[in-house]
Amino acid sequence: MRESLFILLLACCFVVGISIDTITRTQPIEDSETIVSSDQAYKLGFFSPASNSDRYVGIMFNVPGTAHIIWVANRERPLNGPSGTVEILEDGNLAVLNGKKEILWSSNVSKSTNDTSAQLLDTGNLVLTDSNGTSIWESFQVPTDTFVQKMRLSASLINLTSWKSAFDPSIGSFSSGLYLFQIPQLFIWNNSKPYWRSGPWGGNTFIGIPGMNSAYRNRLYLQEDNSGSMYFINDYSDTSGMLYYMLNSSGVINEVSLDGNGYWNISWSSQESQCDVYGKCGPFGICNPRDSPICACLPGFQPRDREEWSRGNWTGGCIRRGWLQCERNQSASEDQGKQDGYLKLKNMKVPDFPEPIAIPEEECRSPCLQNCSCTAYAYYNGIGCMHWNGSLIDVQQFSFDGIDLYIRAAYSELDTGKRKDMKAVIASTVIVASLLIAFSAYICWKWLAKNKGKDQEVKLLSEDVIKMVNIVSDTVDRAKFEELPLYSYEALANATNNFQSKNMLGKGGFGPVYKGKLLDGQEIAVKRLSNSSSQGVEEFMNEVVVISKLQHKNLVRLLGCCIEREEKMLIYEYMPNKSLDSYLFDASKPNILDWRRRAIIIEGIARGLLYLHRDSRLKIIHRDLKVSNILLDEELKPKISDFGLARIFGGNQDQANTNRVVGTYGYMAPEYAMEGRFSEKSDVYGFGVLLLEIVSGRRNTSFYHDENELSLLGYSWRLWNETQATRLIDAAIYDQGIEHDILRYIHIGLLCVQEFAKDRPDVSAVLLMLTTEISNLPRPKLPGYTGRLGSPQSESSAQRDCSINDVTVTVVGGR
Ligand SMILES: *[C@@H]1O[C@H](CO)[C@@H](O)[C@H](O)[C@H]1NC(C)=O
Ligand SMILES: *[C@@H]1O[C@H](CO)[C@@H](O)[C@H](O)[C@H]1NC(C)=O
Ligand SMILES: *[C@@H]1O[C@H](CO)[C@@H](O)[C@H](O)[C@H]1NC(C)=O
Ligand SMILES: *[C@@H]1O[C@H](CO)[C@@H](O)[C@H](O)[C@H]1NC(C)=O
Ligand SMILES: *[C@@H]1O[C@H](CO)[C@@H](O)[C@H](O)[C@H]1NC(C)=O
Ligand SMILES: *[C@@H]1O[C@H](CO)[C@@H](O)[C@H](O)[C@H]1NC(C)=O
Ligand SMILES: *[C@@H]1O[C@H](CO)[C@@H](O)[C@H](O)[C@H]1NC(C)=O
Ligand SMILES: *[C@@H]1O[C@H](CO)[C@@H](O)[C@H](O)[C@H]1NC(C)=O
Ligand SMILES: *[C@@H]1O[C@H](CO)[C@@H](O)[C@H](O)[C@H]1NC(C)=O
Ligand SMILES: *[C@@H]1O[C@H](CO)[C@@H](O)[C@H](O)[C@H]1NC(C)=O
Ligand SMILES: *[C@@H]1O[C@H](CO)[C@@H](O)[C@H](O)[C@H]1NC(C)=O
Ligand SMILES: *[C@@H]1O[C@H](CO)[C@@H](O)[C@H](O)[C@H]1NC(C)=O
Repeated sequence: MRESLFILLLACCFVVGISIDTITRTQPIEDSETIVSSDQAYKLGFFSPASNSDRYVGIMFNVPGTAHIIWVANRERPLNGPSGTVEILEDGNLAVLNGKKEILWSSNVSKSTNDTSAQLLDTGNLVLTDSNGTSIWESFQVPTDTFVQKMRLSASLINLTSWKSAFDPSIGSFSSGLYLFQIPQLFIWNNSKPYWRSGPWGGNTFIGIPGMNSAYRNRLYLQEDNSGSMYFINDYSDTSGMLYYMLNSSGVINEVSLDGNGYWNISWSSQESQCDVYGKCGPFGICNPRDSPICACLPGFQPRDREEWSRGNWTGGCIRRGWLQCERNQSASEDQGKQDGYLKLKNMKVPDFPEPIAIPEEECRSPCLQNCSCTAYAYYNGIGCMHWNGSLIDVQQFSFDGIDLYIRAAYSELDTGKRKDMKAVIASTVIVASLLIAFSAYICWKWLAKNKGKDQEVKLLSEDVIKMVNIVSDTVDRAKFEELPLYSYEALANATNNFQSKNMLGKGGFGPVYKGKLLDGQEIAVKRLSNSSSQGVEEFMNEVVVISKLQHKNLVRLLGCCIEREEKMLIYEYMPNKSLDSYLFDASKPNILDWRRRAIIIEGIARGLLYLHRDSRLKIIHRDLKVSNILLDEELKPKISDFGLARIFGGNQDQANTNRVVGTYGYMAPEYAMEGRFSEKSDVYGFGVLLLEIVSGRRNTSFYHDENELSLLGYSWRLWNETQATRLIDAAIYDQGIEHDILRYIHIGLLCVQEFAKDRPDVSAVLLMLTTEISNLPRPKLPGYTGRLGSPQSESSAQRDCSINDVTVTVVGGR
């Protein structure tokens, strides 16, 4: 009796020991049990990924140590405790059930037969077969996150989906699979966005995986089955090692292998560097993990948004510098025969969206050259000729492997000699302009010397000029112009419909401004210097010099310039919402500028000004802040424009004098208008006027005809002194809830327009006051132009007329 019990126990152990590999209707398994494949490589059983009690059924490697799970059944519905079973249901399906016999997962293939069995094969595949031995379901057809040997990753149906986290097998945001369009590529997607790309399949390797040629050959390959559909197979025949690919919950495919000493090691990873993130450097960018920073623009291209780019935000990518010959007006004789060409880049992961073309290698180049939209080509033996149209995305340079990529480039980019010529042309233009400035200064100096004979003034003036010339030649030395794209006259003429008057946006101080659209669809504003204006040349050069060095989101962006055939033009980004005054003062338009928007605009202007005064490498005084020089982008965010009058200050300089007082009356600080002294504080004054205009919705100049008030400043001051400042608030935005906020802004505005420059806060202080609720702001003193300039007779009436029209005026010899 005892013996038989012993034998029974032994038999039990023996049964467990020989380990079954099959689940049948009569032989389900419970939490404590497993089935093991006949070669002992894989097992199926219950597991918990974390220390909690959640139980899942999965297939894993049958090795001691940490479980390496290759497949999970009930990944979306875990069991709460160890009472689950895996069994064959009455309908023949394989299912995971909980203690209450509720179905948590089922193979869900409708076969009305209970005569089925599920077997774990040596490959790790769990196969459900019917009584005739035909497979009706396989775990390999519904993989989780792991691609094991002998598995087929079929392009059309199956792909891998990551776990949500290392402790949660439910479906995460990453998936991976073969993408067959044009040339097969392996992808990892984050939700539906590409996150990684293998590069095109080149016959036995992927072009974008360096080292694959040696390490992976004869392991992974793409095959076509009988029905003509492609699949990817991992057919590593060396059975001594174990190897699998797993898409982990961070979106990385790792190749994991078991070495001879029982260590699982990662032998390859899809994210070997930052450059392996799809489109890291944006369109027309190139990534090289050995460079710092890793992103650059392809040759012939420049950052689309320099400011973002320099901050390491490369998503915007790059745009072409200048024009391709094929984009220009072909009849222009000087450019005849200067064909576009190609620049060769070596060891490249070629861009996404390759288009295979069935032509021999030597014919690959010319059809691309003939089509302006063809931006690159490459040839690879295993694929043939590939062309790219439009943007080039996800380009990477390897240190080895990869293939040669040919990028379309303008003639000028190909031949450095030609490039030098261009520089010389620009340099000479600059020198001519400088001479012109110097010459007019000389005339001025003569005139002043003769008429006034004031030595000091003369010295100041000539210093000014010397500085100006220095700045200009400094620019040439540092080849700053090189960075500023040149646009051809034809391109601009075409973009603006030959400068048709209906494209005119307005007339600035020294010429008309046109709206235009480049061939690539980009909208631009073109400021054209009228040939008649000689003063304009200086301002033109000044603007180029000043603004080409600046990049800030609250400054309008200069895209390039055109100096060709007597023409001088500046090309800016187009601001669809025009200038601030068109919204603020036009009663016929609906009031879209609520208080929140106005506050954003005020703060944006302050930030732009702070950048000019402090944050750029130079200290720049704008000298002509006014509503019409504040442009609004599509989100109604402000951008300061018009740098024609701006001045660059040297390192420690904080004030300068000029005899040529230029600016707009009403915005000019008293010390500047009357004595020609300008500094940061004179810009702060202009800002204060702007602020009060924005809050009140009234033009500074709208008071000149008013008998009782001198100006907006006088009016604001009087109301403030009488604690009636709420009456200043534009009725269109007034709301009791925000009154307190608006009053604070008025207070700050009054601090900015105080008569004496030393009393005014600087811009950083202004910004601090605007953005934080400092409770005890100083009490503003009398603003400039109120009490003292009380009588209208004290200024010439001619100047008052000017100010009414809000135009920039010039007064020579203002003192
Ligand atoms: C079983 O499959 C059918 C369609 O094939 C689907 O509608 C149904 O929701 C599935 N049931 C389960 C429990 O997955
Ligand atoms: C299988 O189904 C048949 C009827 O379709 C039934 O007679 C038989 O008892 C079932 N077997 C099991 C093990 O449930
Ligand atoms: C098994 O095969 C026979 C003959 O091919 C067929 O009649 C029968 O329906 C099959 N049984 C199942 C369960 O598919
Ligand atoms: C990958 O799997 C997801 C979810 O099953 C599916 O929506 C997607 O179409 C699949 N992609 C490919 C390329 O098979
Ligand atoms: C994946 O996409 C989500 C949004 O869909 C994003 O929040 C997340 O950062 C992305 N992950 C990676 C690694 O890019
Ligand atoms: C995924 O794999 C990468 C590369 O081996 C690793 O850095 C990352 O930590 C892994 N993520 C998780 C969640 O394990
Ligand atoms: C695997 O990793 C272990 C330590 O983690 C190391 O000792 C071993 O040399 C590695 N094996 C291989 C083949 O790199
Ligand atoms: C990156 O730059 C783009 C424009 O180039 C912008 O839309 C995006 O908001 C920027 N992202 C960050 C995080 O600053
Ligand atoms: C090229 O420009 C000239 C004027 O500059 C114009 O007459 C001609 O029609 C243009 N040709 C093309 C092809 O646009
Ligand atoms: C240039 O290539 C594009 C994209 O393949 C095509 O749509 C266009 O028709 C081609 N143009 C010419 C002139 O062949
Ligand atoms: C601009 O160029 C395009 C394409 O070359 C042409 O179709 C269009 O007529 C041109 N427009 C003008 C005003 O020259
Ligand atoms: C300010 O108001 C006080 C009375 O509250 C008055 O005496 C003073 O003259 C006012 N100052 C100005 C400049 O209007």
